[in-house]
Amino acid sequence: MTDALRVVDVAEEHVDSAWQVRQRSFGPGGDKDEWRKTALEFAQDGRYLGVLDGDELVAAARIWPFEQWWGGRRIPMAGVAGVVVAPEYRGRGVASLLMRAVLKRSVEKGYPLSALYPATTVLYRHLGYEFGGGRYQFTFPAADLRTLGGRGVQVRKAGKADAQLFIELASKLHAAERSNGPLIWPLSEVESWLGDDDNFAYVADDGFVVYNWSDGNLSVDEMVAGSEETARALWATVGSGASIARSVYVHTAPTDPVHLLAEHEAEAQARVQRWMLRLIDAPAAIAQRGYAAGAVLDLSVRIEDADLPANAGDWRLSVADGTGSLVAAEPAEDAVRLGARGLAALYAGTPVAALRGAGLLSGGSAAADAALDNAFGGSTAYMIDYF
Ligand SMILES: CC(C)(COP(=O)(O)OP(=O)(O)OC[C@H]1O[C@@H](n2cnc3c(N)ncnc32)[C@H](O)[C@@H]1OP(=O)(O)O)[C@@H](O)C(=O)NCCC(=O)NCCS
Repeated sequence: MTDALRVVDVAEEHVDSAWQVRQRSFGPGGDKDEWRKTALEFAQDGRYLGVLDGDELVAAARIWPFEQWWGGRRIPMAGVAGVVVAPEYRGRGVASLLMRAVLKRSVEKGYPLSALYPATTVLYRHLGYEFGGGRYQFTFPAADLRTLGGRGVQVRKAGKADAQLFIELASKLHAAERSNGPLIWPLSEVESWLGDDDNFAYVADDGFVVYNWSDGNLSVDEMVAGSEETARALWATVGSGASIARSVYVHTAPTDPVHLLAEHEAEAQARVQRWMLRLIDAPAAIAQRGYAAGAVLDLSVRIEDADLPANAGDWRLSVADGTGSLVAAEPAEDAVRLGARGLAALYAGTPVAALRGAGLLSGGSAAADAALDNAFGGSTAYMIDYF
């Protein structure tokens, strides 16, 4: 690495080179003007970092201002995207330099969590990210959805003005289901999907669906239903396209009721894209998530975290009445020992046996393992959206 490399906030004058690095990294495509507009929004809000060599931008990464559901509570989450390094600068630590700055900025912006879809795990594992959950895509026969019924439910076409309502309906459902993983997008993004003519959105009293065409079939991007009847009605609305579309691709939880409603099982080949999680501020992340009702935990943990030393050290981890805390404590012989990766995977509900099997957790006791599984377990962590 040359000494001239420095991390900066991407400014307007760098945006054209950022586009070039992006094209060389992800391939051609995309609308440059549209991309530029969004890029400037990230830049203006201090959520677009780059690496300069002299005056030339050679790497960049963005932070989405998301919230994420954990145990039915929403927590601010830095969604890292568009990590790119110019080809001639790769293989000498530029992405690592940039990602360390992304972690630092995420701390400054007060995000307890960060998540990303990795194109390569190595880079992010070195920085404390570990798999947290998946984005699942199932394929159902459109004809099966068409006949689901729900005819008594009023379904109306939705538009941009319904964005806030969509967020509220989704929030109600995720809180009630104690969901793990799904995102809440900024309101402006939801408005922009709903204003997009390529998306078809329908809303009922306690649910909504957003779908679009995908290679002659239909693809459901978002689906929220607060009752069986609404689920039936919204799926049947999508399935009404069965005379043209043979299949409906569905991004949803692996435990979504649609699996129990549709006559035939989803096609055997489901797609899973895994995403990674990192705790940026461990005490805040532990305090802000929800836990299994009735879970009780009170044990010593030792965390190693070289990149974010505020997370490192000896702690007392407690959970009771659905709420958790991580408080600095004296070192203990029987402490559960974890690094940043183990902590992220534990937080996301990975069974402790799997963490031990991968060398990501040690110490503690069998009783501690059972209590940890009980507190952090719950429904499988998933995301509906890619970013
Ligand atoms: C992936 C990318 C960002 C890596 O940039 P980079 O500056 O070469 O990364 P670094 O030199 O900091 O590498 C950090 C670690 O990741 C590893 N790594 C980097 N690219 C890798 C790859 N393609 N496959 C496996 N490991 C990789 C490095 O070997 C290094 O690990 P090590 O220290 O154990 O050897 C860059 O190749 C790129 O822009 N690719 C195209 C776009 C892309 O895939 N972006 C990621 C989106 S999530």
